[in-house]
Amino acid sequence: MATIQQTPRKTVLITGATSGLGLAASEEMAARGWHVLAVGRDRDTCDQAEQAIRALYPAADLVYFTADLAAQREVNHLAETVCDHLDREQRCLDVLINNVATFRTWYTVTEDGLEMQFAVNHLAGFLLSVRLLDRLRQSPAGRILTVSSASHKHIRVDWARIGSARAYWGLIAYKQSKLANLLMTRELNRRLHDSPVKAYAVDPGLIATGIGTKHTGGLVAWFWRRRSRQGLSPYQSACTLIWLSKMPPDWQSDAWYFAHCRPAQPGRNACSEPDARALWAVSARLCGLPDDCLNGGVSG
Ligand SMILES: NC(=O)c1ccc[n+]([C@@H]2O[C@H](COP(=O)([O-])OP(=O)(O)OC[C@H]3O[C@@H](n4cnc5c(N)ncnc54)[C@H](OP(=O)(O)O)[C@@H]3O)[C@@H](O)[C@H]2O)c1
Repeated sequence: MATIQQTPRKTVLITGATSGLGLAASEEMAARGWHVLAVGRDRDTCDQAEQAIRALYPAADLVYFTADLAAQREVNHLAETVCDHLDREQRCLDVLINNVATFRTWYTVTEDGLEMQFAVNHLAGFLLSVRLLDRLRQSPAGRILTVSSASHKHIRVDWARIGSARAYWGLIAYKQSKLANLLMTRELNRRLHDSPVKAYAVDPGLIATGIGTKHTGGLVAWFWRRRSRQGLSPYQSACTLIWLSKMPPDWQSDAWYFAHCRPAQPGRNACSEPDARALWAVSARLCGLPDDCLNGGVSG
């Protein structure tokens, strides 16, 4: 049986924690003795993931929360439940890891009337970051880590028409959502410049997971199975998330995009301040929040 390493007990919330990178990162953090708040879509997959981690670390300080992050109603409810939990445990939140993502070949609409990949891969993390900001502010060095991808490069977006059904192409929509991860990170840092809370985006590299087979079919699923075999294991890929999460409060870096535990070069379009502002405005509107939601007292 593996032993838990006792290090300063961070409190970390991670979404998409029932498979792939999120499951591996949850296990790695539980192994370090951190207080892990893991989020999965439904109770069955959460129970299976928790059992898998507890088989290795029976005393893991781990709680699984369920929420379908495609629905803003459930993201808001998750934030409230997490805040209640933190109050009961008398803890702040040290790290929020926005890891959840989906890849869809077909145009799919959420209950809020939004395109699924934009809603899950970007808006869920945006809304959760806003709702949990007050708890991150209570930490000596709150961190918002958002899992993006090198595929954000060489793509442009018309933010006013994001998520349109017209000429939908799954891969393009996925790449746009991953570009949104970087632009959100950039804008969070601009808006939080006078706060100890910092946001970082992470490229986890190509990983051997099932993301490209869950909501696709035929050739796409076949291609992903072949390609992902060449990828890192989810445990190898989790190293950058763990490395950033465990940095001491006085650690400073001018970089805001990381891969393989090192600063990485973001794509040109990820560095556009007008696009970052435009995306923020669209995201806030689609979530029913004011543009200045970080100062407006809407977080939990
Ligand atoms: N795999 C790669 O090569 C690669 C490369 C670059 C970046 N990334 C990024 O790495 C991150 C993790 O991806 P992965 O490869 O580990 O994929 P994965 O194994 O499919 O993990 C995605 C997680 O998100 C969950 N999820 C999806 N939709 C959800 C929803 N509506 N509500 C709640 N949970 C939901 C999934 O649960 P269900 O299984 O229940 O849907 C799963 O736990 C993503 O941000 C992805 O974009 C991956």
